[in-house]
Amino acid sequence: MKKGTHMNRGTTMDTTATLRNELSALTTKLFSYAGSKMKFKKDFDRLHQEFGKSIKVKTYVEAFAGTLASLFHNLAHVEAKRYIINDTNKRIINLYQQIQANPQELFEKFALLENEFQRIIPEDLRNQRYVKEEFRDNLFKANQDFYLEARAYLNQCPLDTNNAALFLFVMHHNFNGLYHENKKGDLNVSFNWSSEMINMDAIRRSIFNLHHFFTTHVVIFENKDVFELINTLDEKETFIYLDPPYSNSNIQYSSKAHSFNEVQTHLELIALCQKYDYVMYSNNYEMILEKEFQACVEFQRGNFGTKKSQKPTHEMLALVCHIKTSYYTSIPALLGIATQETLYMANNLSMTPVEDTKPCSVVALLNNAA
Ligand SMILES: C[S@@+](CC[C@H](N)C(=O)[O-])C[C@H]1O[C@@H](n2cnc3c(N)ncnc32)[C@H](O)[C@@H]1O
Repeated sequence: MKKGTHMNRGTTMDTTATLRNELSALTTKLFSYAGSKMKFKKDFDRLHQEFGKSIKVKTYVEAFAGTLASLFHNLAHVEAKRYIINDTNKRIINLYQQIQANPQELFEKFALLENEFQRIIPEDLRNQRYVKEEFRDNLFKANQDFYLEARAYLNQCPLDTNNAALFLFVMHHNFNGLYHENKKGDLNVSFNWSSEMINMDAIRRSIFNLHHFFTTHVVIFENKDVFELINTLDEKETFIYLDPPYSNSNIQYSSKAHSFNEVQTHLELIALCQKYDYVMYSNNYEMILEKEFQACVEFQRGNFGTKKSQKPTHEMLALVCHIKTSYYTSIPALLGIATQETLYMANNLSMTPVEDTKPCSVVALLNNAA
C-alpha cells in the first residue's frame, strides 16, 4: 500500500499477517495523547524479541486503550481471535464505536468543525505552532471561543457521532494532548493557541483503517474501570496489556477512576492478572514492579506537557507468561489415556473451563460432546 493511502471499506483483509503489514500505530493515529506509546514501537519490538516467543491467544485485552498505539505495536507479535478494547474514558470508547459504525459521517462532521476553525483564523496568523501572546486576546480570540464552545457541547451532548466529532476536534486543539476531567466528569483542558493546519487526509485514512480493523475482527468495546473489567473476564488464554496512569504522576485523566498514584495499586492490579496466560505492563520504572515479570526493557521518555527543564522519565515495559511448563511428559500422554482436553481437541470442539484435569471416563465425555 502506498504511503498516505488508506484501505477502502470494501477491501477484505483476511489474515493477521496482512493486518500486521498494513496497520500500524502511525496509519491509525487520530490524535496526540498524554501517555500514548506512539513513539515506542522499537521498545515494544525489543521486549517481544527479548521474550522470544510468538504468542497466540484466544483473547487480547487492551485494558487502558487511549489512542490504541500500543495495541497496534503489540499486534505485530500477538495473534488473537478476539480483541477487547477498554478505557474508563467514555468519550474515547464512543469515538471508536462511531468509527466502527459511522466512519464517513464522523469524518464529515469533524471536517465541518475543523474547516470552520481554519476559516476564522486571520490571514496573518495562519499555520503557526504558537500564536504570539499579543494576538491571543484580539485577532485569535474567536478561535479560542470556538474551541471553548466545542468543549462545552462535548460535555453536554450524548455519546453519538456529534460527540465523537467534537471529541476529535477538542483533542486536536487542547493543550499539549492533555486529557483531564473535573469532579463532574467534564473535560476541562484549555486551548492550545495554535493555528497549525491539520492533515485531514491522514485523519481520514486513520478513521478508515481503524474502521477496517473494527469490522474485520471480533472487537468488543468496554467502558469499565480496569478492576471491574478483570472481574468480568475468565478466559485464561488471554494476553492483557496494562498501561495505567503512571505512579507518582500528576496525570490521572479522571477523578472518578481508580487512582494509580501509589505503586501498591499497580502491584494489586498485576496480582489480579495472574489468571491470564500473558501479562504485559508499562509504568515509570520501579524495581519492585520489574520483579513481577520475566522480561523487561527500559527507556527514557521526554516529559509530556511539563517544563523542559525537568528530566525525562525512566520507564519500563515488561512481560510475563503464566503458562506452566512441565519438566516431564504427563502420564496420560505417556500411556495414551484420553483426557477431557485431548478429546475436545480431537473433536475440534471449543474447550469449556475444566476445574479438575484428572482423566475422565471416555463414555461420559462422548456423551457430553454429543
Ligand atoms: C497511559 S494512557 C494509555 C495510552 C495507550 N496505551 C496509548 O498507547 O495511547 C492510560 C489510559 O487509561 C485510562 N484509564 C485511567 N484510569 C483507568 C482505569 N482505572 N481503568 C481503565 N482505564 C483507565 C485513561 O483514560 C487513559 O486513556
